[in-house]
Amino acid sequence: MTKHIVLLPGDGIGPEIIDATQQVLETIAKQFKHDFTCETQLIGGSAIDSVGTPLPDQTVEACKQADAVLLGAVGGPKWDQYPSHLRPERGLLGIRKALDLFANLRPVKGFDSLLNASPLKQEIIQGSDLIIVRELTGGLYFGTPSERLANGDVVDTLAYQRYEIERIIDKAFQTAQIRKKKLTSVDKANVLESSKLWREIVEEKKTNYPDVVVNHELVDACAMKLITNPTSFDVIVTENMFGDILSDEASVLTGSLGMLPSASLAENGVGLYEPAHGSAPDIAGKGIANPIATILSAAMLLRYSFQMENEAEAIEKAVEKTIESGYHTADLHVNGGKQVNTKEITKMIIKQI
Ligand code: NAD
Ligand code: IPM
Ligand code: MN
Repeated sequence: MTKHIVLLPGDGIGPEIIDATQQVLETIAKQFKHDFTCETQLIGGSAIDSVGTPLPDQTVEACKQADAVLLGAVGGPKWDQYPSHLRPERGLLGIRKALDLFANLRPVKGFDSLLNASPLKQEIIQGSDLIIVRELTGGLYFGTPSERLANGDVVDTLAYQRYEIERIIDKAFQTAQIRKKKLTSVDKANVLESSKLWREIVEEKKTNYPDVVVNHELVDACAMKLITNPTSFDVIVTENMFGDILSDEASVLTGSLGMLPSASLAENGVGLYEPAHGSAPDIAGKGIANPIATILSAAMLLRYSFQMENEAEAIEKAVEKTIESGYHTADLHVNGGKQVNTKEITKMIIKQI
């Protein structure tokens, strides 16, 4: 099959992990006799530096024409003092909005051989396998007004249109139907109006999915249970910012934020695949970043955008075998095993495909 992929390396470790993942995709193409063409476009701080905007029109156009998009990460200290509309993160938010990527799927599944890499007790995290379905194009990230007022006060706006909540709740129920049929809807309905509507819509929708058991949880308690009883979760659905925070927290179950992939999907149209982590400025340029979150995001790309289940599994199995054989990057604090760099772990994964 011939497919066209737009690569958005971005900033910090972005180019390092995209380079590694492109090699993995090339290996899959060769092995399974596909023709993947890749095109690189600008986003984030590197786009600001080259063309003065975090999201050039050319990037948006290229993504719209692509069969799938793979993103590294954006941001870094260099641009932290830039005005809001000129921050690298605006590029990421802009492309999510432009492609209507309302559903961000963040699977969290640890490998048995990494149980001792987590600071959490092994008996608590063993067997944890959950997915966070994060609303990605609404809420506090996109509400207006969001500004500094003339008197020096500030305002951000948490707004949701009914249809925006309905479509992510449907996506979550459908995700639960093909898993363990257990859905936890996470909100702050004891305080927020948007959460009250969120809860009402979950209650309305659940009659359409009688095979799914659904419960509601407040976000603060959920944050606690996520690390004290992670195996009690299957699918978690939540609004944009709660999902952002809970997914970084959940990455602790796997041993490192560098392990967490994600898929950002539209109703119809191109999907964008991105690790859950950021540009890791503290390790950028050192060649030691963990490429696995991005490599597993590429597996999600093959599964969801190209319907290439066997190819996706080939990548996932290769990552698992590599980790099981004791090799890991420096972000994973494993007892024993052997520490390797980005290029070395990528080579090992490729060898296992
Ligand atoms: P971060 O996720 O970049 O890093 C947090 C910590 O995790 C750091 O210690 C980092 O070294 C480590 N880490 C993250 N990914 C890793 C990997 N693949 N391998 C090894 N270690 C890894 O979060 P931050 O430091 O809070 O943010 C840095 C910048 O990234 C900010 O500008 C932020 O806005 C941006 N950011 C971008 C995205 C994105 O592009 N999707 C996501 C989150 C943060
Ligand atoms: C993520 C990131 C982004 C988000 C930032 C960089 C805008 O933290 O993808 O999790 O909050 O969505
Ligand atoms: Mn985040």
